[in-house]
Amino acid sequence: MKILVTGGLGFIGSHTVVELQNVGYDVVIIDDLSNASEKVLDGITAITGKKPLFEKLNLRERNKVEDFFHRHNDIEGVIHFAASKAVGESVENPLLYYENNLSSLVYLLKELVKKKGASFIFSSSCTVYGQADAMPITENAPVKNAESPYGNTKQIGEEIISDTCKAHEELQAIALRYFNPVGAHESAEIGELPIGIPQNLVPFITQTAIGLRDQLSVFGDDYPTPDGTCIRDYIHVVDLAKAHVIALQRLLNKKNKQRYEVFNLGTGRGSSVLEVIKSFEHVSGEKLNYKITGRRPGDVISAYADTVKANEELGWKAELDLDEAMLSAWKWEQKIRS
Ligand code: WQD
Repeated sequence: MKILVTGGLGFIGSHTVVELQNVGYDVVIIDDLSNASEKVLDGITAITGKKPLFEKLNLRERNKVEDFFHRHNDIEGVIHFAASKAVGESVENPLLYYENNLSSLVYLLKELVKKKGASFIFSSSCTVYGQADAMPITENAPVKNAESPYGNTKQIGEEIISDTCKAHEELQAIALRYFNPVGAHESAEIGELPIGIPQNLVPFITQTAIGLRDQLSVFGDDYPTPDGTCIRDYIHVVDLAKAHVIALQRLLNKKNKQRYEVFNLGTGRGSSVLEVIKSFEHVSGEKLNYKITGRRPGDVISAYADTVKANEELGWKAELDLDEAMLSAWKWEQKIRS
């Protein structure tokens, strides 16, 4: 059975391709290489022994998308990761985000509704909740006004999919709202490859420890949390990848209860910035050079997932803990800088 993974050379996409291949799916990847390298194909192949099909393609080019689906008319499922995802950049360049993230989604869906039946998994984000009123966050928590155009493209994307499923019963879809994906495959053949100065905490930690960055800035320790730093739900990327395969199989096997479903994907545990640093120091044996600085605008105080729905409906639970995530992230950083 052939599955399309858009953005399949990216961080979460590449780990999901590995898990799809591990259970026997044929995978075709579309990636425009704007935020990924074709070398990631070698990493995937080194792990699974099977080189996925790959086409460099920009999903904003509608005729190219049509032509792709014409040539690959045996695609039974799509996992859609391809999107611009830098929160700060989206504030500076909102139209790039609305055009890229939304038009590519619409062109994909236009092809899927032509098929007799299609299963669609959408990469969404806990960012849709903004600062949720209560922890842990359930799927019924209200979607708040987006803090950034990036977050807004996730909210609008979910609405586009929901409306399309209502109008086209042959389309079944699941939106997966990730918390904070971290870590790397244990083989250190694939991992996170941030371009330029990392925005996210964990790659900044590993780049500081390896000497690429002088010092980590901890953005504020005056929050109303036990140690004053923000709390997040750091989920290992391999656990996250496995959840995508399970969600896809739910649709392929017609086990879904509605044509459009939403699941939070997290560990259910909140960790503060200082706890993440302590975990990293513990597993790496490195003393991390960091300082406390001012708050970063737009940061929520706390966000961690209620995992009951994913546990009970998907039968999925995160298995890897923060230490394993930090250790695999560190091994990956050492590998790519060796
Ligand atoms: C985590 C914590 C920072 C960097 C983002 C996106 C979200 C999703 C996941 C795509 C925060 C602190 C960070 C640093 C720090 N992406 N931090 N120093 O902001 O929770 O979520 O990535 O879907 O949409 O918003 O992740 O890793 O940037 O920050 O102190 O150099 O680490 O303040 O408390 P975030 P993050």
